[in-house]
Amino acid sequence: MTRRRVCVLVSGRGSNLQALLDAAADHAYPAEIALVLSNVPGVYALERAEKAGVPALSLPHRDFPSREAFDAAVDAILTNAGIDIVCLAGFMRLLSPAFAAKWAGRLINVHPALLPAFKGLHTHRRALEAGVKLHGCTVHLVTPELDDGPILVQAAVPVLPGDDEDTLAARVLEQEHRIYPLALRLLAEGRVRMDGERVVVDAPGPTGALVNPAP
Ligand code: GAR
Repeated sequence: MTRRRVCVLVSGRGSNLQALLDAAADHAYPAEIALVLSNVPGVYALERAEKAGVPALSLPHRDFPSREAFDAAVDAILTNAGIDIVCLAGFMRLLSPAFAAKWAGRLINVHPALLPAFKGLHTHRRALEAGVKLHGCTVHLVTPELDDGPILVQAAVPVLPGDDEDTLAARVLEQEHRIYPLALRLLAEGRVRMDGERVVVDAPGPTGALVNPAP
């Protein structure tokens, strides 16, 4: 089996990067993390990459005159490194339409909400304010729109009485770490196909329902 070569783009602590590194440490996993690239120098994600023996680069976006110039530099690095799939993992920067178009179908993101609800920032605070009883996370294909694009995998968690932003974020993050490696595996194995604007995944569905409060 040829493993698909993956670059993970990061901006911070990199716990989702760690989940991908851990999954890819198994040689039976269909993707290898070939490169980690951060737009913010000195972040912990870069250290995680180095510890795993993965090449890590920082490319400060402030060194570039425009979004397009930064994205073109990233694209050149990815192309030179023979990258097949790009994973955004806490990469807190919008990508230009040209970059999203070039990598369409091979560019995925994890978002801490059940999209299309709660796009953007402060998703846990907004979920608590809205009083939703179920919250969660999404891995989706990236389009030029922020936190938009066909959904690959989602996980739902209950919002519990007494939750604050931190407890809810921790419950969701645990699921991000489960579904991101799963989504990358499905994509790398070619089990993802488009049906118009939507993704159809060739994988078994869950059984039962998550009801909160419990009946
Ligand atoms: C994660 O919760 C991820 O879903 C979120 O940033 C965090 C990064 O954590 N991403 C977004 O909000 C993108 N819209 P990490 O650096 O520990 O993976």
